[in-house]
Amino acid sequence: MSRLGTETAFEVLNRARALEKQGKEVVHLEIGEPDFDTPANVVDAGVNALRQGWTHYGPAAGLPDLRQAIADYVSRTRSVPVASEEVVVVPGGKPIIFFTMLALVDEGDEVIYPNPGFPIYESMINYVGGHAIPIPLREERDFSVDVKELASLITNRTKLVILNSPHNPTGGTLSKHDIYAIADAIGDRNIMVLSDEIYSRLVFEGEDFSIASVPGFKERTIILDGFSKTYAMTGWRMGYGVMRVDLATHISRLMTNSNSCTASFTQIAGIEALRGDQTSVDRMNAEFKHRRDVFVAGLNKIKGFSCRLPKGAFYAFPNITKTGWPSKKLADALLDQAGVACLSGTAFGDYGEGYLRFSVANSLENLNKALAKIEEWVGKNLS
Ligand SMILES: Cc1ncc(COP(=O)(O)O)c(C=O)c1O
Repeated sequence: MSRLGTETAFEVLNRARALEKQGKEVVHLEIGEPDFDTPANVVDAGVNALRQGWTHYGPAAGLPDLRQAIADYVSRTRSVPVASEEVVVVPGGKPIIFFTMLALVDEGDEVIYPNPGFPIYESMINYVGGHAIPIPLREERDFSVDVKELASLITNRTKLVILNSPHNPTGGTLSKHDIYAIADAIGDRNIMVLSDEIYSRLVFEGEDFSIASVPGFKERTIILDGFSKTYAMTGWRMGYGVMRVDLATHISRLMTNSNSCTASFTQIAGIEALRGDQTSVDRMNAEFKHRRDVFVAGLNKIKGFSCRLPKGAFYAFPNITKTGWPSKKLADALLDQAGVACLSGTAFGDYGEGYLRFSVANSLENLNKALAKIEEWVGKNLS
């Protein structure tokens, strides 16, 4: 257990709630979840499903109709044919990370993962006894992967490469050109790729491209995607993996051993999410883009902060080195003294030092309030 890490966002959320209990005002920019409600058509489908008796166990890999809806959606969006047998539905995107590591990584295997990056990658690699090999994502490259560096990290012990685009926490994306170069660097080695595409619908500049679309890579890729971010369904707990049928069988067995199945009525709602009206998704995305523009422009006016415009997801990842403060100390001070909850870049790995992460999945009013609070605090505390 001592090798298992955590996700700091939930700890900061708890600290922020404790401060609120003491009567302090806190603007919550720490947690990565849409502030919008789940679209009404999806909620209705879930409620109707409950009334219609979708309250029983279902197949471990997911309801056949949802697996088919996901296969259709992924075939369409990734331009690669996917069959329903290649889809495993799980409670959220996270279990795909957990199960992939359990299924593929043996003690001593090397796993290359983005750093800064979603903390669960490093946590799970260490937990299963793998060697976590960070690929640093640097600001000067707009937080994309340096493919030469990636190539230099690949050894004959490399079992898995993790990609995440759009990227949490930086908002960086991998272009089609980047992805082809990465595929080239991996070549025809016996290496699997976990492609975390949970923010694939939240691309503001350029187009989203999956390594599964590169000829010869679908068989070696596990796509992770889900409903949490795209459809504002974080609490419903529903995500999925797309992978070769032989691997899907193993991941389904891990489901049988852990969860039995994903909740049946949420899966019925998932079919509506994928097949129903997408207007709400478009509306939420337009709003995230607008908030990103406002918030990043505001951050860039604050002394000591400089922030690139993230190309996707709903995070801002400003460089704060010019404040002279280490990230964790600054994040703590902003919460305790300014009433703004954000995360230290180091919550996403060692290469996150010098940065903070703010979620812009909050109202414009709150984002502007946070900017004013930070500016005021900086004015008082930084010379
Ligand atoms: C990069 C990334 N992958 C996976 C997840 C997990 O999503 P879910 O809430 O569906 O488990 C998140 C959630 O924050 C994420 O940021």
